[in-house]
Amino acid sequence: MPNAESLEVLYSEKVIAERIRILGAEITQNYQGKELILVCVLKGAFPFLADLCRAIDMDVRIEFLGVSSYGAGTKSTGVVRITQDLAHPIKDKHVLLIEDIVDTGLTLRYILDNLTTRNPSSIGICTLLDKPANRRVEVEVDYSGFTIPDHFVIGYGMDLAESYRNLPYIGYFPPETLGKD
Ligand code: IMP
Repeated sequence: MPNAESLEVLYSEKVIAERIRILGAEITQNYQGKELILVCVLKGAFPFLADLCRAIDMDVRIEFLGVSSYGAGTKSTGVVRITQDLAHPIKDKHVLLIEDIVDTGLTLRYILDNLTTRNPSSIGICTLLDKPANRRVEVEVDYSGFTIPDHFVIGYGMDLAESYRNLPYIGYFPPETLGKD
């Protein structure tokens, strides 16, 4: 595990909060009059969901979908597993997937294919971070907080081997501090 002192801050709490306020206003406008379910992709998106849902000025339902794709490393294995399914049907509902970060796109592709079989009225994607450099499959992101360079980021829900999720900001370890994996 790298030393926390070598951590570089990418987005501060204040910058994240301001961006989420704008995303919330856009979502509120675009889903007016519709029944919206926010599906939080666990674990990494839980702080984003908590802040984003309070920036949305209309009634929404909240669901959680547990997904595991990385193991303990910093590279995608490409193997996606549902660890906790939705508690309620999404048939004929408008679903907005809430993700922490889209990297290869493999996780979202798997989730989209799975949830589409349940016949929702629509499925949108809202991600806090988009890291297009590593994309391996195409996914259409509807709402994106920030587009980031190819860093492995942590904090604000995102982990390195399950650590750092509770940092209030988003940071990264310069590659030379991460070692090989
Ligand atoms: P993808 O399947 O490669 O798009 O990765 C999606 C998931 O991998 C995200 O929801 C995160 O949980 C995790 N992930 C991808 N990149 C990072 C990162 O830079 N830091 C922490 N987690 C990441």
